[in-house]
Amino acid sequence: METAKNAIKHATSSESPFAPGFKVPITHQDTPGKQGDLPIEPINTQVPTEDGGLQAYKAAGKLQDKKALITGGDSGIGRAIALLYAMEGADSFIVYLPEEEEDAQETKRQVEKIGRTCHLLSTDLRQFDNCKKVADAALEKFGRVNILVNNAAFQMMQQDITDIPNEQWIKTFDTNIHPFFFLSKLLVPHMKRGDTVINCASINAYIGRPDLLDYTSTKGAIVSFTRGLANQQMKKGIRVNAVCPGPVWTPLIPSTMDDSAQDQFTSPMGRPAQPSEIATCFVFLASTDSSMISGQSLHPNGGVIVNG
Ligand SMILES: NC(=O)c1ccc[n+]([C@@H]2O[C@H](COP(=O)([O-])OP(=O)(O)OC[C@H]3O[C@@H](n4cnc5c(N)ncnc54)[C@H](O)[C@@H]3O)[C@@H](O)[C@H]2O)c1
Repeated sequence: METAKNAIKHATSSESPFAPGFKVPITHQDTPGKQGDLPIEPINTQVPTEDGGLQAYKAAGKLQDKKALITGGDSGIGRAIALLYAMEGADSFIVYLPEEEEDAQETKRQVEKIGRTCHLLSTDLRQFDNCKKVADAALEKFGRVNILVNNAAFQMMQQDITDIPNEQWIKTFDTNIHPFFFLSKLLVPHMKRGDTVINCASINAYIGRPDLLDYTSTKGAIVSFTRGLANQQMKKGIRVNAVCPGPVWTPLIPSTMDDSAQDQFTSPMGRPAQPSEIATCFVFLASTDSSMISGQSLHPNGGVIVNG
């Protein structure tokens, strides 16, 4: 196992992370991963230039005064969503595990620097009662939730079905799909025409990744849940969509993937994504720019052609 210090040397950190050939540093953490312990900070509020350099995300007031609930908003894709939403004029309520308090405080600090509000609540979303506390607290703080981002997840690599402990299979389903149902059930009744639910699925639902069988199965469930809920809520004008990222540099990777998987962590574009490049999809799906889109999946996966 490499240390973070060695990993910095391994990484092509002098290059732009948007340049083809960029590789993530091979490094390991306990789960849940901590953004504060990553050897290279993921990119949250910058997007690529045409030649693979970095430029600031250009906001246009697309989510002015909207209120968003973002699970797993302390780090990775969730943090980038909170920051781009803040740049677009929205306030956030983020949920995470107690061990991730430091990362959550950093997200709050950065959102507030942009000039918006960020409420924090640490809890384990696997229990319905905790989801109820989250929904009640968000409604109490904001009076409404316009955008529900179901983003929290757990994964752990296992090469073969016989290697997956039953407890892991159950934990993965308890974490990755049950809270999507619980929070949607609790918050959709409070939503109005124009409000949205956005679920984070994964490329793995489409390519059937063999060493993440339990995780892949939950992501398939999320895609189908998205389609069913979208059809159900259409009459109320609430749109429900999914985002299915390919590889993205976040704390999930060093906390759940072995050296070989991290070494091959790339896409047809020759690099993994940065969280900002996934968060732009969540901005699009939350705004009226996507007014004709419901029950669909967006695929920011670096060019892998998938069906659906
Ligand atoms: N990083 C990738 O390559 C990648 C690729 C495809 C999809 N995704 C998806 O992106 C989403 C965000 O992941 P990320 O990569 O930003 O990693 P991340 O580790 O930064 O975020 C995952 C978050 O889930 C939350 N979480 C996990 N278990 C929880 C629980 N029981 N209760 C409450 N919160 C809990 C944690 O707060 C954690 O921060 C996930 O749905 C993941 O499956 C990631």
